[in-house]
Order: sequence, then structure tokens, then C-alpha cells
Amino acid sequence: MTDPLIKPSFLSLPRLRPTLDETARAALDEIDSVGLRRRLRRIDGYQDPEVTIDGRRFLLLCSNNYLGLASHPDVRRAAAEAIGRYGTSAVSSRLISGHMRAHEELETRLAEWKGTPGALVFSTGYQANVGTITSLVRPGDVVLSDELNHASIIDGCRLSRAQTAVYRHNDVTQLRALLDEHADAKRVLVITESVFSMDGDKAPLAEISAACREHGAWLMVDEAHAAGIFGPKGAGLVSELGLQGGVDIIVGTLGKALASFGAYVAGSQALVDLLINRARSFIFTTGLPPAAVAAAYAAIDIAERDRERSAGLLARAHRLGTRLRESGLDVPNIDSQILPIIIGDADTTVRVMQDLLDEGIYVAAIRPPTVPRGTSRLRVSLMATHTDAQVDRAADAIARAVAAAAARTS
Ligand SMILES: Cc1ncc(COP(=O)(O)O)c(C=O)c1O
Repeated sequence: MTDPLIKPSFLSLPRLRPTLDETARAALDEIDSVGLRRRLRRIDGYQDPEVTIDGRRFLLLCSNNYLGLASHPDVRRAAAEAIGRYGTSAVSSRLISGHMRAHEELETRLAEWKGTPGALVFSTGYQANVGTITSLVRPGDVVLSDELNHASIIDGCRLSRAQTAVYRHNDVTQLRALLDEHADAKRVLVITESVFSMDGDKAPLAEISAACREHGAWLMVDEAHAAGIFGPKGAGLVSELGLQGGVDIIVGTLGKALASFGAYVAGSQALVDLLINRARSFIFTTGLPPAAVAAAYAAIDIAERDRERSAGLLARAHRLGTRLRESGLDVPNIDSQILPIIIGDADTTVRVMQDLLDEGIYVAAIRPPTVPRGTSRLRVSLMATHTDAQVDRAADAIARAVAAAAARTS
């Protein structure tokens, strides 16, 4: 007989664990306390130089729609036609039934554009980096990675479990010292972005490539922010520098200048075949939708044909940088469409962003962990479709907002 004084165990069990919501709220409080809370801001309509947010018009200064192609009629038409021809989705992994004619045509086009024997389309740049790194290196191998490389590269290195050494940003002397230090490693992979996403500066690719060649290391270059913009055909910085023979793996995204979604890896046919067989982020995911594939194809055609777009974009970025420097701001003089305006502290950066929003200008505050602590910034990115008048308005407003922040803290 059961003792009536003994409660069933499910009633007497003390609540040892916090609930999920308690845990989430505590974590969010912690994020709030250091000023790093992130929130979504909804944009209605096309991502053009001016956008609507909550019914108000804003000058948009933080989109990666660098060439302004996301609303281009040819790109939209190509996407719509692809839906008509192939339907809305690849509906399966490329290795099951999701490999379609559209993918194959885009891969052929990408290889020709990049000047490589082959190319493979991934569903995102994040997946391309993670899948490529984990397919190429493993425990016992060594990765040498620039300290400002994108999170997807960092995560790929972690997942590969190869020994990873991080070298100071663009420091070829330190890279060479690390190559010497790891001379006995069987495989060494060096990874850098070509145009850095949060700083807009360029890697010294010719020097990095020479160092890799001398040491028998492989070189992987992420052209996410260079493809479509640099090079005689817009294929990126590797082609601008004529370095196709000196880079083993080129990664690029379709979701920035190419106004679509997805990514690619370009290189040898053996590399492509290996990735098809080993990259888990390629194998275990649905293929890119036909509309995205066709939009990217159309955008490459425009980027290649209409080089004036890139020239105009870079001219506008140059104009903005010059005007900001004339206003006394410490903006680096770099030839790219990304301008970092480093404020330092996260709270102040958010306050500057808010002041700009009040003036009808939207430029996102970039804070840790996206950038190193103490280097929170406004990351201004321009579009080929911004006008000079919009650039001048932005320069004046940014200079005012940064000066106001400095006055508040002094
Ligand atoms: C340098 C770099 N690589 C990779 C990615 C990831 O690309 P995706 O957005 O297609 O995942 C990004 C940004 O998103 C990036 O800035």
C-alpha cells in the first residue's frame, strides 16, 4: 500500500532548471546591459537608394545592393521567367532531384566569368565557406586566417577542427612567419577576403598569393564584396589583379552586388567534384531556387556589360569619403564602395544611428561580435543608383551626427 504522506514524484520534484523563456530573457538582459541588442527593421518595397520604413522615407546607406540591380527590370524579368519555366523551388538537395538546368547554366557562366575550370553554386555564402573549409582541411592540417575574416570563415575553421592560426589584418610579414612555422604541416590553407566586409579595404592579394606559392600553401579568397564591382568584367579583385593562376579557391556570393541569393565556389574541376561529394552544407540542403539562379545570371550579364555602373559606384564612394574627410572625420581613403566610420563605443554608435534616422537616413550601427570590441561603427555602403545629391546629403548629416556625439561625450 502506498503511504498517503508520500507525494508522487512529479509533484514533489523541485524545479531545478530555468524555463526556456527565463533563460532567453536573462540572456537578452545581458545583451541589453552592454548595449548590443539587435532588432529587425522592416523595409517596404524595393531596396533602392530611398526606402520606406514604418511609412517614412529614408535614404538607405547600408544595403549590399551595390550595383542597384535588385529592382532592375531585366533581373526581375529573368527571375519571373525562371519561375514560369522551372517552378518556384528546387524542392530537393541538388544530389537528389534538385539539380536543374538553370543551376548547370549558371555554373558554366560563373566559371567562364571567373576564368576557372569549374564552379559550384551553394545556397548561401555562409554554407559555401563552411562547406569548402571543412571539405579541404581536417585535424592535423593548418589554416591561416586573417583576423577580420567573416564569421562564416571562422565557423568553417572551427568545424573543420584543423589547427587555425589567425594573422593580423593584412599582415603579410606575420603570414609568412606562420607559413615558416608550419612548414612541416601536410596541408596549409590560407584564407582571406579580397574586399573586407566591415572595413572596405583590400587584401594585398598579390603578396599573399606569392607567399602561398613559395610555401606550397593553398589560397582561398572570399570575393563577397568585390564580385560584380572590380575587374575588367566585374568578376572581382582576383581578376582585376590577374591572379587567377595564383588563387586556388574563389568564393563569392550572389546576394550582394548580384542582387540575388546564394553563393558559389570557383576553382578546379577536382575541387568542384570534391565539394559535391564532401561539403555537408551542399549535400544536406535544398538547391537554390530557379528564380534566384536566373536573377544572378542576369545580374552577371549586366555587371559584365555595363562597367559604368561600377565606375559610378566607386566615384560616389570616393565623393562621400572625400566630403567626410573634409568635415574632419577619420575615414580611410580606400577605393571601394564600403566606408567604415569608426565611433568606438557601441552605445554611442547606436545613438549616432538614431540621430541619423531622425534625419531620414538609415545606416546600420555595426557592433561586436561583428566587429572587434571598441571598433563599433557606421558601415556606409553605397549603391550605383545613389545620386551625387544623395551622397552630399548623407555626408552633411553624418558629419553633423558624429560631431554631436563627440560634443556629448567631451
Ligand atoms: C565576406 C562574406 N562572406 C560570406 C558571407 C555570407 O554570405 P551569405 O549572406 O550569402 O550567407 C558574407 C555576408 O553575408 C560576407 O560578408
